[in-house]
Amino acid sequence: MSTASEKLLLFGATGDLSQRMLLPSLFGLDVDGLLPPALAIIATARSEMNEARFREVAATALKRYVPAERMSDEALAGFLNRLNYVAVDASDPTQFSALADVVGSTEKGLSIFLSTAPSLFGATIDGLNGAGLAGCNVRIGLEKPLGYDLVSSRTINDAVAKVFPEERIFRIDHYLGKETVQNLLALRFANSLFEPLWKAGGIDHVQITVSETVGLEGRVGFYDGAGAIRDMVQNHMLQLLALVAMEPPAQFNSTAIRDEKVKVLRSLRKIDRATAASHSVIGQYGPGAMAGGPVPGYSDELGKPSGTETFVAIKAHIDNWRWQGVPFYLRTGKRLPSRQSEIFIQFKGVPHSIFESRGAVLQPNKLIIRLQPDENVRLLLMSKEPGLDRDGIRLREVPLDIAMDNAFADSRRRIAYERLLLDLIEGDQTLFVRRDEVEAQWEWVDAIRDGWAANAMKPRAYTAGTWGPSAAIGLTERDGVTWHD
Ligand code: BG6
Repeated sequence: MSTASEKLLLFGATGDLSQRMLLPSLFGLDVDGLLPPALAIIATARSEMNEARFREVAATALKRYVPAERMSDEALAGFLNRLNYVAVDASDPTQFSALADVVGSTEKGLSIFLSTAPSLFGATIDGLNGAGLAGCNVRIGLEKPLGYDLVSSRTINDAVAKVFPEERIFRIDHYLGKETVQNLLALRFANSLFEPLWKAGGIDHVQITVSETVGLEGRVGFYDGAGAIRDMVQNHMLQLLALVAMEPPAQFNSTAIRDEKVKVLRSLRKIDRATAASHSVIGQYGPGAMAGGPVPGYSDELGKPSGTETFVAIKAHIDNWRWQGVPFYLRTGKRLPSRQSEIFIQFKGVPHSIFESRGAVLQPNKLIIRLQPDENVRLLLMSKEPGLDRDGIRLREVPLDIAMDNAFADSRRRIAYERLLLDLIEGDQTLFVRRDEVEAQWEWVDAIRDGWAANAMKPRAYTAGTWGPSAAIGLTERDGVTWHD
């Protein structure tokens, strides 16, 4: 099934994700003429309100989150015209028939975007099924959190699988919608330059950092029950790792790419009770200063003491031929000094330096793929400093820089959800996560968490605005590696 749906059903339509991301993304697609012309958007949430009131809510959100230069009264009116609203309490199965009445026939395709508390997944799926909203032309997009461990994620996956076959399930990891993440595929598989070196023989180590400056952001209920490893590593960071490490897929399609990713995820060496303490570090931010002002610590924001980690660093290995002996260092945290997501690949040094006798020190080549805040790819190469070299030869690391904003100045940088919503509506699963991937991710993460519990590991305090606990530095320095900040 790959025809575009003519209807989109949005659960959680009054929520934060919808206001900040989903509605602005749909609006952006509409303005560019990319939505199916007849696409009707049926919004649902718990709150009782009529369609006119929901359109006001949507208009307010769009005016707030869409850049002014892309907004016009005409475009806004056109988009609002697509919106319907039905209040649904998903825990009450009787409410789905009213929803089905508004949705009407699903013959020309219905895409559902479900972003709901894990506890409501089962009820919502059953409700949809009972009301006839799960037929063969219906596909469903699932937003995280899809469980909090392997067992609960299997429960959710089973509940969905009872009603929807895997080829109509679209599990969202919004990192896969980011342009630079997709560019990883182009970098690796549209260039012949890197592949011969892209393995243990050519690469010394890989670092993946996703650092954030924000703190708890009012997500008290959710975040304290999740922590950094489940919020960021289990999904986004392992997807990045899989894209960096996978074998070349034979084709650009959802099966080939996801087959290769899952092989990587299954080859991750288990970090367990014996190795959790030596291969991972957890931290929690205390009070500190950010952007020149004081910020409270995590437990102050939360209003009670907590054992939840807001920072995690992990030394991972992939046990296959390509990556034998190459550490993958992962690091993510809140209230770190800068917002920065990047993949840093350090190549092996030259086998013999002819410059050493002339006093030059060589640095190994590095490839830095920056996902945010700016999108660029930098290759650091050794180059000779101009001069007559009377006091020896001086070599310096200089970047070959591809800043996406410059290279592709004419194209608008899109929100990740624009891509993902359009792919959902059009039925392309390539950038969505398959069940076996999610479960392999959980399996690896669960073992680490079990290792933390068995070793009574508690998050170490770090000052907000710093790069996490000092033990995170020790994790790489022991191997002679420095984090790229
Ligand atoms: C979400 C996490 O999945 O990703 C958040 O729940 C995090 O805690 C966010 O802030 C980061 O996304 P981005 O796109 O801002 O890097």
